[in-house]
Amino acid sequence: MRTIDWRGDHIELIDQTRLPGELVTLRIDTVDALVDAITRLAVRGAPALGVAGALGVALAARSGDTEQAARQAETLRTARPTAVNLAWGVDRARARLGEGPDAVLAEALDILDADVRVNRAVGSRGARWLLDALGRPVNVQTHCNAGALACVEWGTALGVVRALHRDGALGHVYLNETRPLLQGARLTAWELAQAGIAHTLVVDSAGPSVVARGMVNAVIVGADRVAANRDVINKVGTYPLALAAARAGIPFVVAAPESTIDPDTPDGSAVTIEVRDPAEMLGTHTPPDTAALNLAFDVTPADLVTAIVTEDRVLTAR
Ligand code: MRU
Repeated sequence: MRTIDWRGDHIELIDQTRLPGELVTLRIDTVDALVDAITRLAVRGAPALGVAGALGVALAARSGDTEQAARQAETLRTARPTAVNLAWGVDRARARLGEGPDAVLAEALDILDADVRVNRAVGSRGARWLLDALGRPVNVQTHCNAGALACVEWGTALGVVRALHRDGALGHVYLNETRPLLQGARLTAWELAQAGIAHTLVVDSAGPSVVARGMVNAVIVGADRVAANRDVINKVGTYPLALAAARAGIPFVVAAPESTIDPDTPDGSAVTIEVRDPAEMLGTHTPPDTAALNLAFDVTPADLVTAIVTEDRVLTAR
C-alpha cells in the first residue's frame, strides 16, 4: 500500500496520526484539506511531502483558474518550512500551470512514480556501502521515521535497512522514540514489525548511549534538507546521534534523494527550523504555565557526516 497516491480526481493518503492503532486513509479533495493534513503530520517525511506538494498543485489546477491555483500553490509551499522537498514538489508542478491541468498532473505523477524508483536505488546503494565499510551483520541505530511512510514506498534510511534485511545482512535495529510526536515509536516500530525486522525501542536521550555502548556499528537517518556545504537538517535528536557516532568512530550515514540536496541553501544556519506548538510537549505531566520550545529539527554539521547516500552517488566526508 502506498503512503500517498492519486485516485483519478483526488489524493488518497495514509493518516499517520492514527497509526499504529488504525491503518486508515484520508481522501483529500482540496488544497485546504491537504495543508491541514501536512500541518498536523497526517502526511509527513520529506519525500512524501514533495509528492503531496506536487499532487496538491494538480488538485488546485483542476479548477482551471490559473491565478487561484498559483496562490494555492504558494500556501501549500509554506505549509511546513524545513523539508525542501515540499517547495521542490510544488515548484515542479507549478511550473506547468500554464500548460493546463493535465500537464500539471503529469508532472506530479512523474514525481510520485520516480519516488518509488529513487528509494529502491537509495536503499540498495546504502546497503552496499555499509557492507563494504563494515561487513556483516550491520547493526544500526535510526531516528524518527525515514521509512515507507515518509515516502511513497520503501523508505530512505529504512530503505537501506530493508535492503540489508532482504540480503540477510542486517543484525538488529535500535530506534529512538522521537519526542514529542513519536514518529519512531509509532511509525518506524510499526513498519519494522510489518517487515519482520528485529528492533528495540529506546528513549531519545538513550540513543547516544546505545552508540557509546557499542550496540550498533552505524547510525543511519534520513534528511529534510542537505545544504550545499553538506550540513544535514533532520528531526531534532539527530545531531546528538552524530556526535555519539563520531566519538565512537562509527559511520553516521544519511540516506536521501538528490531532491533533498538544496544548492540554494549555503549551510545549516540558513534553514528555517520549524518550531511547533508547545502544546505538543505539554500536558498533565507538566506544571501549568511551563514555557516550552518545540524545535522540530536540528542541524548536523557536515564534518560529522560520514556519507550521504542518494540514488545517484555516495558523498563521503571531504
Ligand atoms: O516532522 P517529520 O515527521 O516530517 O520529520 C521527518 C524527518 O525528520 C525525516 O527523517 C525526514 O523527513 C526524512 S524522511 C525520508
